[in-house]
Amino acid sequence: MNADPRVMEYESSTLSADQSDLLAEAIQLGLEERDYGFWAVQICDDAQGNEGSFVGFVGLSVPIWDAAFTPCMEIGWRLSRPHWGFGYATEAATQILEYAFKVLRLSEVLSSTPLSNSRSLAVMQRLGMTREEREDFNHPNLDSSDSLCRHALFRMSDQLWANRYKEVQN
Ligand SMILES: CC(C)(COP(=O)(O)OP(=O)(O)OC[C@H]1O[C@@H](n2cnc3c(N)ncnc32)[C@H](O)[C@@H]1OP(=O)(O)O)[C@@H](O)C(=O)NCCC(=O)NCCS
Repeated sequence: MNADPRVMEYESSTLSADQSDLLAEAIQLGLEERDYGFWAVQICDDAQGNEGSFVGFVGLSVPIWDAAFTPCMEIGWRLSRPHWGFGYATEAATQILEYAFKVLRLSEVLSSTPLSNSRSLAVMQRLGMTREEREDFNHPNLDSSDSLCRHALFRMSDQLWANRYKEVQN
């Protein structure tokens, strides 16, 4: 997944096997130390929900860069290419937002992505997150001439999430 140029199109580069293993270790350590992080997404391979194949990760992180809206909690996702188009990112992110608001008791979760990352923008919209174009921003770690620099910011509040859940249940 991390070596696939299509998956990593909106990252600075693809990862080697060693870099990918280091990332997986860091993610694992993070989950042992905190009550949030990136969780592996696996497809249940039978009706009993037994674990099947690994398809990617979805989770929560605190950006380590500065922007007008930081510090904050961000939700993000990465799936391997053959598993795009089935709703897996949206399904996993829905569970994670429920966890963020009901268990972690956060008041807001944000998400950001380059303006050109239409698939990621579509996940944010499917989740019901809201965007104000005036909150679009230049990512502080990227040069302003970089085509990935301009980012959209989406927000989900605990209140909006609770109302959305009520709508779904009614
Ligand atoms: C961003 C990314 C996770 C989106 O994956 P995705 O599969 O397109 O997103 P979803 O899980 O929401 O699936 C939506 C698709 O599944 C379809 N779908 C099928 N069943 C569905 C369901 N029950 N619910 C929602 N969508 C469903 C939708 O119609 C949509 O299809 P489309 O691709 O034809 O538009 C994926 O493209 C990716 O990993 N990209 C690389 C990493 C990346 O850019 N991460 C973000 C960095 S900021």
